[in-house]
Amino acid sequence: MRKKIVAGNWKMNTTVPEGVILAQDVVAKLSEVPSDVNLVVAPSFVHIAQVGEVVNGTSVGLSAQNCADEVKGAYTGEVSAQMLSSIGVKYVILGHSERREYYGETNEKLVKKVNLALAEGLTPIFCVGEKLEERKANKHFDVVGEQVKEVLFTLSAEQMANVVIAYEPVWAIGTGETATKEQAQEIHAFIRATLAEKFGALAEEISILYGGSCKPSNAQELFAQKDIDGGLIGGAALKAEDFIAIAKSF
Ligand code: PGA
Repeated sequence: MRKKIVAGNWKMNTTVPEGVILAQDVVAKLSEVPSDVNLVVAPSFVHIAQVGEVVNGTSVGLSAQNCADEVKGAYTGEVSAQMLSSIGVKYVILGHSERREYYGETNEKLVKKVNLALAEGLTPIFCVGEKLEERKANKHFDVVGEQVKEVLFTLSAEQMANVVIAYEPVWAIGTGETATKEQAQEIHAFIRATLAEKFGALAEEISILYGGSCKPSNAQELFAQKDIDGGLIGGAALKAEDFIAIAKSF
């Protein structure tokens, strides 16, 4: 059985006190969420210790939004996977389209990040997705296939078993425009089939989340799709009520 996961990517939002309140609100509503749904919150690095104090001891998993592509040393401004695991972080979002687009993250760098995260026992939430012009040119399968192959095909099966994938069409992120359930299912199935080329039956065990303007009003139809195992939620994760409503949508 694949894990059902709803992860909140807070991005560069909330002050630390606001983030602590948001986490407390999520924890307060936790009893409403079915026990087989894994909730994850991904605040900024600055928030992690304090948000960790709120969620530790609950079923909410703590995630970072990025980690360094080096182990340690003279890399000013970077945060290592080891630093994250040392304070109870369990997941790390890697390869988000905003990191790829604004901070020059390449598949090559992501191979290093995914490996370092796994070596520290973190679960990477590895993001893939095409831009609008790529979809319009009917290149979305090529783009997503390449992201999967160039990074995840370098892993052993044992490593791959600890990776979560998030498909996020860039044109749907923060735009209010969501992929239709058919569009999302089609590419999730493609990702799973691509994984199967290298990892065989293990592909059936990998959770593939949908991200991009996922909200309470559309989560249900998306999560009902055969190959959609949850969501990576941006804007709607900033309101505990909406985040919990999404988690109840399976
Ligand atoms: P959104 O962001 O839900 O605000 O579209 C999703 C994401 O970028 O992870």
